Amino acid sequence: MSFLNNIFGTKPKTDFSVLQTDVHSHFLPGLDDGCKTFEESIRLLKSMHEAGFRNIVCTPHIQAVHYQNSRETIMPVFEQLQLLVEKEIPGLSLSVAAEYLLDDGFEKHLENGLMTFGKENYVLTELSYFTPYPRYRNLLQQIQMKGFKPILAHPERYGYWAKHDEPIEELHGAGILLQVNIPSLTDYYGSTIRKRAFGLVEKGLVSLAGSDIHNANYLNSVLGGLQQRSLSKILEQNRFANCELM
Ligand SMILES: [Fe+2]
Repeated sequence: MSFLNNIFGTKPKTDFSVLQTDVHSHFLPGLDDGCKTFEESIRLLKSMHEAGFRNIVCTPHIQAVHYQNSRETIMPVFEQLQLLVEKEIPGLSLSVAAEYLLDDGFEKHLENGLMTFGKENYVLTELSYFTPYPRYRNLLQQIQMKGFKPILAHPERYGYWAKHDEPIEELHGAGILLQVNIPSLTDYYGSTIRKRAFGLVEKGLVSLAGSDIHNANYLNSVLGGLQQRSLSKILEQNRFANCELM
């Protein structure tokens, strides 16, 4: 019996195959607060494949203070995981980029070369949960001027924008792709964020969905969403552009 059958009793009607690609995840072990071992990564990735994903973009944190990752720290781990995936999960393809915090260290990465993915060189970025970096608009613009396409992760989770659509509308209008977390849609972070996430999707401001999976708790929340009418409805309506990225 498959993992999905195991947790639901019967296989849910909807799966994530409409998305094809997960644009935000922390499966590379030991680099950030995500997976801790290759065994854990493979176990979770098998379930993602079973749930319909065909491409997974690994996006470890790169931050000036907490996670000082770089291409040099990330690539050896990615290559090792990719070899294991080729052997153990044929049919699942793995890509690598990063989740860049827009902070004081970001411009150095911009100069040295950003880790991008997909056919239009997408760059996944995030803001602090406490206060947005004062020059975040300028940094996003600099990404665009390099010819890359910035994605801003989980706008629904920034409390300072909880009652302000204007900054989010402004980013959307400027061609920044907004990515909602699937765990936000499934209530992993609570009902306020869930409501906010659906509100942004309904308003047409969100382009992409990402799992942001760090461990089995996130995975269970993502897979549990397939049993929720509200999530399966927006998957069936094909509201996200994930499948156009690779
Ligand atoms: Fe993340």
